[in-house]
Amino acid sequence: MPLHSSLGKKKEFSQVNGIILQKKTCDFWNKIWNFQAKPDDLLIASYPKAGTTWTQEIVDLIQNDGDIEKSRRASIQLRHPFLEWIRMTHCPRPEKRNPKDNLVSYYHFQRMNKALPDPGSWDEYFETFLAGNVVWGSWFDHVKGWWKKKDSHPILYLFYEDMRKDPKREIRKIMEFLGKNLKEEILDKIVYNTSFDVMKRNPMTNYINEIKMNHNLSPFLRKGVVGDWKNQFTEAQNKQFNEYHEKNMADTSLSFCMGL
Ligand code: A3P
Repeated sequence: MPLHSSLGKKKEFSQVNGIILQKKTCDFWNKIWNFQAKPDDLLIASYPKAGTTWTQEIVDLIQNDGDIEKSRRASIQLRHPFLEWIRMTHCPRPEKRNPKDNLVSYYHFQRMNKALPDPGSWDEYFETFLAGNVVWGSWFDHVKGWWKKKDSHPILYLFYEDMRKDPKREIRKIMEFLGKNLKEEILDKIVYNTSFDVMKRNPMTNYINEIKMNHNLSPFLRKGVVGDWKNQFTEAQNKQFNEYHEKNMADTSLSFCMGL
């Protein structure tokens, strides 16, 4: 497994409860685990490559009443710090994406982000992802864990596919969840400014200044589409993935939601 072997050499990764995490995250694990949110804290929780940056930008614009200048005050990782990097999180989170597209996006992200282990070949990475041996853990465990919490916590579940299909409807949902009431024209402005093309050109959202990322290998805002997995999966991989998914997600209604 390329991830295991490269992990072995890389000191910057370690494990907590069997989940591969960046060493700096492990070092602060107790603090993260014992983090006590205040009632009005907002935690954007998603699996890597599920559309985190997109949601962060939408939330920031809603909180700033659609003020573009304010949302350009700093890069997105400074405006929404990650909990595991001391303040806000990239641990299990409730933004969902068809796992096949999520896997393809993660593969290309690991190719371009030198802060993460080399993903190896596509075929190798496919197996690594299914086995949950990727940084931040198994997609399946993450999704099931948050899904179980949905009735006991004030959680807004978002699906990448829904956001793609009707961004205004989903942005309105986020706005209502945040207890805001913005005018239609401001909502339209937020839809426009959080569109793929605008965010791809915006240096505050496209990670262009992140030195460990090589956008020539694969841009951070890569394709932003639904169904790209069809360009990457072989037929055999699709069959294997469906079988694994069915076996591991049998106790949730999520396969249906994701239109697998
Ligand atoms: P692709 O690699 O499939 O293009 P994260 O922010 O969690 O790392 O997720 C990154 C994925 O979300 C990338 O997917 C990226 O292109 C996509 N994305 C980011 N902003 C987007 C937007 N405004 N509209 C659609 N997709 C977006």
